[in-house]
Amino acid sequence: MTHVLVTGGAGFIGSHVTTALLAANHDVTVLDCGHPAAHREPPSVPAGAVLIRADIRDAGAVRAALRGAEAVVHQAALVGLGAGPRDLPEYVGCNDLGTAVLLAAMAEAGVRRLVLASSMVVYGEGAYRCPDHGVVRPAPRDPADLAAGRFEPGCPSCARPLTGERVDEDAPMDPRSVYAATKVAQEHLAAVWARETGAAVTALRYHNVYGPGMPRDTPYSGVAAIFRSALEGGRAPQVYEDGGQLRDFVHVTDVAAANVAALDASGGFRAYNVASGRPVTVGEMAGLLGEAFGGPGPQITGRFRLGDVRHIVASPQRAAAELGFRAVVTPAAGLREFACAPLRG
Ligand code: UD1
Repeated sequence: MTHVLVTGGAGFIGSHVTTALLAANHDVTVLDCGHPAAHREPPSVPAGAVLIRADIRDAGAVRAALRGAEAVVHQAALVGLGAGPRDLPEYVGCNDLGTAVLLAAMAEAGVRRLVLASSMVVYGEGAYRCPDHGVVRPAPRDPADLAAGRFEPGCPSCARPLTGERVDEDAPMDPRSVYAATKVAQEHLAAVWARETGAAVTALRYHNVYGPGMPRDTPYSGVAAIFRSALEGGRAPQVYEDGGQLRDFVHVTDVAAANVAALDASGGFRAYNVASGRPVTVGEMAGLLGEAFGGPGPQITGRFRLGDVRHIVASPQRAAAELGFRAVVTPAAGLREFACAPLRG
């Protein structure tokens, strides 16, 4: 039994992590400020956990929350694409300054185990192969190509169409949004801190997380919540591009299990993809949800967002080999359940 501090433990993913830690007989303290981007209601935590309501940038509160803790599971963060550049200071403040305050307080308190919620957004585009040039990294897509309905990125050398591959943890980092840049910075700060203190840091690069308690449609929501909210409102899910973009939708209970498994990791910094290993296209996902909900089928709009990457699917091998983590919920079963699951306020 370990006493674990879960930051962001009242949020969508954090509350599932808290529940899984309690079920594994750990003691849990939650530090959560109830950030308005994630909470419309005052934050609450599963029975058995202690909630300290404070901002992670508040060093005194973090020190108090760490009292007795032997490990930290750091979920507190502002996620998603956000509302635009005016969000920049809040992203950097919550995600990077917040992490810095946490790491300093952990060093002071002698807490040497950290599980960090990272994201597949650190990779930018996924991995691609050109028939002539092997594994390549496509440049950001040209707005003119997107407007003309040419959604697949081409080979940077010969422009031939590429096939998608599973990205592994050694792929270079290439953040393409403010959120992604803050997640890269969190990983780097935590890696340096691990070297300096001899601590163990496990960075879990979540793919597209979904499941019960997901926030409704906001500028910070992922596509599964947006489609669910559309169906609830009697509207057809609006699928961007041609619907062929690949993602790995991983159920939140599997993500929580990965966090519990990661607590046992030993010294140094190590990153892991947390994914179902069963990619689906966004169009397929919209179809599955609509069918299970009994609502309107998806509309393929051809619209696009400049910041979106085309395909990003993971190799879940390293997490399986080293953490013993394998997702158990298939997207087919999980999305069917999610179609009618409760969302948060
Ligand atoms: C998402 C999250 C990111 C998180 C990551 C891994 C957002 C905005 N992005 O990244 O924070 O770290 O998962 O968990 O929360 N789409 C539509 N219709 C819509 C909205 C989106 O077709 O109404 C498409 C997009 O064009 C994109 C795909 O769905 O191709 C996924 O979009 P989204 O969930 O927003 O972002 P990700 O980049 O996958």
